[in-house]
Amino acid sequence: MSGAKASKQAMMEEYQQRRQQFLEKIGRGTAIFRSAPPAVMHKDVEYNFRQESDFFYLTGFNEPNAVAVLAPQHQEHQFILFVQPKDPEKETWNGYRAGVEQAKEYYGADEAYSISELDEKLSQYLEPADRIYYHFGDDRSFNNIILGHWQQLMASYAKRGTGPIALEDPGPTLHPMRLVKSELELVQVRQAVEISTAAHNAARQLAQPGRYEYEIQAELEYLFRRHGALGPAYPSIVASGANACVLHYTENNRQMQAHELLLIDAGCAYGYYNADITRTFPVGGQFTVEQRILYELVLEAQKQAIDQVQPGNPYNQSHETAVRVLTEGLAGLGLLQGELDTLIEQEKYKPFYMHRTGHWLGLDVHDVGVYKYGDMWQQLQPGHLLTVEPGLYIAPDIKPAEGQPEVPERWRGIGIRIEDDVLVTATGHEVLTEAVPKSVEALETL
Ligand code: GLY
Ligand code: MN
Ligand code: MN
Repeated sequence: MSGAKASKQAMMEEYQQRRQQFLEKIGRGTAIFRSAPPAVMHKDVEYNFRQESDFFYLTGFNEPNAVAVLAPQHQEHQFILFVQPKDPEKETWNGYRAGVEQAKEYYGADEAYSISELDEKLSQYLEPADRIYYHFGDDRSFNNIILGHWQQLMASYAKRGTGPIALEDPGPTLHPMRLVKSELELVQVRQAVEISTAAHNAARQLAQPGRYEYEIQAELEYLFRRHGALGPAYPSIVASGANACVLHYTENNRQMQAHELLLIDAGCAYGYYNADITRTFPVGGQFTVEQRILYELVLEAQKQAIDQVQPGNPYNQSHETAVRVLTEGLAGLGLLQGELDTLIEQEKYKPFYMHRTGHWLGLDVHDVGVYKYGDMWQQLQPGHLLTVEPGLYIAPDIKPAEGQPEVPERWRGIGIRIEDDVLVTATGHEVLTEAVPKSVEALETL
C-alpha cells in the first residue's frame, strides 16, 4: 500500500475553505447541519459511528450529538458548533470527546457550546438570516425544534422586520461542491481503490471450486481492515452462478462449483471515501462458451461507455452507449428480435439489463449530486467521480419482454457485471480501478 495520507492540517484548511465557499453561496441565509445519530445495536450497544456526509464535508468533526451552524451575516460568529461536552465518566465508557474547547481550537469554530444549549443559543444565529437552510432528517423531534424556532421568528417578523422567511434544503447549494473532488479527497479515494484492488486480486486467487462465497467475503473484508480501511463501503456481494442475477445478493453462503462465474461487487471505505468495484470471472479459470460470449459483450459495452466519460459530455451518454452495445449484442445472439432503435426505444433489453450504468461516487457510495437539471443531463467536468458498471443478468426464470423470444436454457443462470471507478480529468478520464484485471486472457490465466 502506498500509505498516502492527507495531513490533518491540510484537511483542516480544506474544511475551512469549503465552509468559506458555502458561506458565500448562502449569502444572508443561516445553515444548520446535524450530525448522524449514534449507531446503536441490540438497543444499547454503541458500535461504529459514521458521521453524516454533509456534516463531515464541512467540519471534519466526527462525533454524534452535534450541530453545526453556518451564519454568514452574524456579527461575530460564522461557524458555530454545538457538541457533546467533556465528561470523564462517559468518556471512560464510550471514548474520547473533543468537547467545547477543542471544537474551537482544533475544529476552528468561532464559537462552540454544549449541545444541551442548542435551543437557547440558536435563535441569535437565525434572527438576522433571510432564510434557513436545513435538511429534514428522520428525527422528527429534531425537525420540530428547527420548525419551532422558525415559527417563533416568523411570529415576531413584523415587529423586527427581519428574519428567515423561507426554509430551504442545503443540498442544491452544497452538493455541487461535493460532486467535484479536490486533490485531498482524491488521495483518500485512491487509497480506498488501492486497498480494494489488493483485496479483489487476493479474493480472485482464493475463488476455487468447493469454496464458499463467505470465504471470499471474509478474505476481502479481512484485507480491507488489515490495510487500514474502515471496512466495507457497502455489503459485499459475492455471488456465484445464478446468484449473480440478484443485483444486491448478500447472503454469500453458497458453495461455488467449477464452470460457474463468480461476481464480486465489493469495495472499502477509507477515511470516509469509497471504492465500488465489480468483477466477474470463472471459478477455476475457464469460461464456458456462453459465459465468454456474454462476458465479452459486457466488457465491450463497458469499454465504450468508459470512452464516453469526457468533460463536456452529458452524464447519460455512457448509459446510452452501454444500452446500445448490449442490445445490439443480444440481438446478434438472437436473444432479442427486431430493429435496434425500436428495441432500445421500447426498452426490450430490460429483462437482461435493468439498472443504470453508474452513479456518482464519493463520501457516499451513491453520492450526492443531481444527474439532470430539468430535461438536461448534467455535463461531466474535471473532478467528477463516477462508476461505470454495465451488466447482463439472465435469471433462470427470465421472462422475455412482450413480443420477444423465450431465452434458450443454455444462456440461463449467467449474471455478469463489470464496474470501474472513473475520474473525469481535464482531457478525458482516468480509470482508477484499472489494476483489477478484467480481460478474458487475464481472468483465464489465474
Ligand atoms: N455496490 C453498489 C453499486 O454498485 O451500486
Ligand atoms: Mn456501483
Ligand atoms: Mn458496486
